Amino acid sequence: MTAPPLRSQAATLSYDKRVIVEDLTFDIPAGSFTAIIGPNACGKSTLLRAMAGLLAPAAGQMILDGKGIASLAPREIAQRLGLLPQTAIAPEGITVAELVARGRYVHQRLLRQWSAEDRQAVDDALRLTNVTELADRRVEHLSGGQRQRVWIAMVLAQQTPLILLDEPTTYLDIAHQMDVLNLLHELNAAGRTIVAVLHDLNHAARYASHIIAMKAGKVLAAGSPAQVITAATVSAVFGLETEVIPDPVTGNPMVVPHDTRA
Ligand SMILES: Nc1ncnc2c1ncn2[C@@H]1O[C@H](COP(=O)(O)OP(=O)(O)OP(=O)(O)O)[C@@H](O)[C@H]1O
Ligand SMILES: [Mg+2]
Repeated sequence: MTAPPLRSQAATLSYDKRVIVEDLTFDIPAGSFTAIIGPNACGKSTLLRAMAGLLAPAAGQMILDGKGIASLAPREIAQRLGLLPQTAIAPEGITVAELVARGRYVHQRLLRQWSAEDRQAVDDALRLTNVTELADRRVEHLSGGQRQRVWIAMVLAQQTPLILLDEPTTYLDIAHQMDVLNLLHELNAAGRTIVAVLHDLNHAARYASHIIAMKAGKVLAAGSPAQVITAATVSAVFGLETEVIPDPVTGNPMVVPHDTRA
């Protein structure tokens, strides 16, 4: 078995004194498409920030490629993983092409000019996320869905082996949701490890190879979609009664909530 690229080792995460995630241990399997699911405010974004080295654990540690993430320079981290935060704010006036080009900064060296390779990476990222036509537009003038795809392009331009995305399909219409998930699937098939926070359990069940279900800062279940997406687990995690039936298109588990209308 290949070593996990990322491991949370007894990590406790807190803001000031308030503990959000306590003593959390799990691996992101190498080459997986891992989905993190769980109710609002259970600590998913907090966990992703810590996994990206942006939040130092109060206890325990995050281990990236076998090394404590705190021991790595920001540049070393950024060459290994890219993060799409849940809410990203673009600098005022920046164009799409300029923002996506920022994904290349981690590859720049002092005295090294912008290269053909950088140009290619940006062009590929714009094309893969279907935003090439928006290249000269200001990011602040885009629709929510267009902006979301531009941020994904920036992370892709970084060309890291590990990609963390916090709710990458928010703001997207159903067709663009599928486009983004299919793109992540292709990147995963080509060898990248993908970790995505997803609220849509049916997306997680269809696309992920590994699912981590969180509740109140703890992992309640982890494993394949068939292991995690069950009526019992959905009830334990979300307090919602559902039927889990085979997705008529793919056969993966599909969650259908009970009718709870009064
Ligand atoms: N910067 C911060 N300072 C203090 N508390 C925070 C901060 N960010 C998040 N929290 C709190 O930590 C808890 C977990 O938040 P987090 O954003 O990790 O949840 P989440 O699982 O991503 O939720 P959602 O599904 O709504 O995005 C919440 O109670 C939130 O209010
Ligand atoms: Mg969140």
